[in-house]
Amino acid sequence: MATVLVASNRGPVSYVLGEDGSLAARRGGGGLVSGLSAVSSQESVWVCAALGEGDREAVRRGVGEPGVRMLDIAPDVYADAYNGIANSVLWFLHHHLYDIPREPVFDAEFRRRWESYRGYNHAFAEALAAEAAEGAAVLVQDYHLALVPGRLRDLRPDLRISHFTHTPWASPEYLGMLPDDIREELLRGMLGADELGFHTRRWAAAFTDCAAAAGLGDTRVAVYPLGVDGDDLRALAYRPEVDERRAALRHEIGDRRTIVRVDRTELSKNILRGLQAYRELLTTHPEWRDRVVHLASAYPSRQDLESYRAYTAAVAALADEINTEFGTADWQPVIVSVQDDFPRSLAAYRLADVALVNPVRDGMNLVAKEIPVVSEAGCALVLSTGAGAYEELKEDALTVNPFDVSQTAEALHKALSMPPAERTDRTKRLTAAATALPPQRWFLNQLESLRDRTPAPSPT
Ligand code: G6P
Repeated sequence: MATVLVASNRGPVSYVLGEDGSLAARRGGGGLVSGLSAVSSQESVWVCAALGEGDREAVRRGVGEPGVRMLDIAPDVYADAYNGIANSVLWFLHHHLYDIPREPVFDAEFRRRWESYRGYNHAFAEALAAEAAEGAAVLVQDYHLALVPGRLRDLRPDLRISHFTHTPWASPEYLGMLPDDIREELLRGMLGADELGFHTRRWAAAFTDCAAAAGLGDTRVAVYPLGVDGDDLRALAYRPEVDERRAALRHEIGDRRTIVRVDRTELSKNILRGLQAYRELLTTHPEWRDRVVHLASAYPSRQDLESYRAYTAAVAALADEINTEFGTADWQPVIVSVQDDFPRSLAAYRLADVALVNPVRDGMNLVAKEIPVVSEAGCALVLSTGAGAYEELKEDALTVNPFDVSQTAEALHKALSMPPAERTDRTKRLTAAATALPPQRWFLNQLESLRDRTPAPSPT
């Protein structure tokens, strides 16, 4: 039985089923993976969902990693819970992404999907209840699993339960669009936890406001701003496979300056306005033509959703337009990479003169923290006020309203023109802020706080 449990939709490993029937394991990275490595694997279990056919086959064959328990949820239930509710409703609410004249629509179809979401959450709670030792600590992650704490508390009142939200939290007006009973179920589900963690004070305060608006008083929020481990990241960024990609990129861009961004192709990341700002920069400051290249890694994400497919196509089309408008025989103004290739992203980080991070709303955004740590010559950071990272980095970033394309274009110009000494000084301070709470400490702080708390009563 485990004394420390983590639950998240996406686990630390996934399986790819080959045509010959073989199963290949792919290990993921990220803050949670390095965070959990702070505790020994004998005492921990990570409960996650089987995401695709490869994962399901692994569960059927009994293939798995020690300490990882994959749940094989019926594919239609899973699709409704993950695509139909988590990514189309909760993600859109927390990031304020709805196209309001037409969305959202909460009808019978929505309620059918919500039942699947509830079933998927209950399956997680039951698996956790079965794996947890008496008094164990359970750290539940993100909007996919908002109903787990409440259900788990009913099943196992002895456990210490936390829930961490990696996204922003919706404003009360925005969350207020949900049907009343569903909103209450969501909030009560979360309030089954002893502690509710957020990346920034802003999102924690939004949760508290939403709970108060629903008449559910709450004092259990806590703020843990996830940072990066500077030594680990630099070690990764200076491996031979990254050196190779760096050399290839340098060859492609010559001695031009670079504006670097790295995102999933995600509606909230605001990639289109970023490209519009770059186009405006090349128009209003023609002196940068042929002297700068925009390296944009924008790898496809959540392609089961039509709005994401359309967005991915729009990003590619706008990049092409800019290249056609300004490009010359030996200068391609924007280079878009659609591969989820972390070594290539690290190579781009190393070459970054300017980092562009302009999400409309983002829980934290670790790219804003990673680029200053890795960049070879220091970089100027253009950062949106909508990123969680803004709270910690605002003093030394060039901050922008994510909707203001002209302001963003001007910030890019200032960033490109920043004197080297100022850039170095700012990068030093950005690096210090970015590495203040590395993943292992982030994880252990939550674990310690949870162990110090007496179990909370269920909200009445
Ligand atoms: C965000 C969420 C994570 C999620 C990730 C990738 O960072 O907070 O929970 O895993 O996006 O999205 P995906 O849908 O591919 O898991």
